[in-house]
Amino acid sequence: MKYSVAYFSRTGNSGRIAQKIAQKLSTDAIEVTDNMNWKGPIGYMRAGRCALNNKDVDISIHGKIDSDEYIVVTPLWAGKITPAIRKLLQTLPKDKVHLIVSSGSSTLKERADYKSVLDIIKKEKNEDEKIAAFTGSLSQ
Ligand SMILES: Cc1cc2nc3c(=O)[nH]c(=O)nc-3n(C[C@H](O)[C@H](O)[C@H](O)COP(=O)(O)O)c2cc1C
Repeated sequence: MKYSVAYFSRTGNSGRIAQKIAQKLSTDAIEVTDNMNWKGPIGYMRAGRCALNNKDVDISIHGKIDSDEYIVVTPLWAGKITPAIRKLLQTLPKDKVHLIVSSGSSTLKERADYKSVLDIIKKEKNEDEKIAAFTGSLSQ
């Protein structure tokens, strides 16, 4: 089975998780960026508001996403996936997407129809164990 790994990251956690998964699968992690400024305290407030309002953003995909199944890593913002990843997911078949959600302490609420959803929660301090179990569960 061929997998593409894509991620959006504001402060690096989702990027790190995506890199670790990609390394285990001997592929590259493809970054997705958007046209918004999420930096600093004002960016933080904007991020929460835009996630809650399902803000439509323009995205750039920094690589070729082309595979049998997709591993998509996103931060959790106000209980939701990020605008950039919401936009990316509009182009992918949901039942072929393994969604990995990086959060501080809580889990994604809307999780129906994905191939799988995995929450990696910072305060649980088990990122590497969860990544190993996840990559181990994938079909070769
Ligand atoms: C706007 C905003 C909202 C967030 N909301 C939540 C939340 O609802 N629950 C949670 O556990 N963490 C929340 N977080 C924390 C992030 O999900 C967490 O730090 C994540 O690892 C960040 O990923 P990144 O470093 O790839 O950007 C929020 C962070 C931001 C910036």
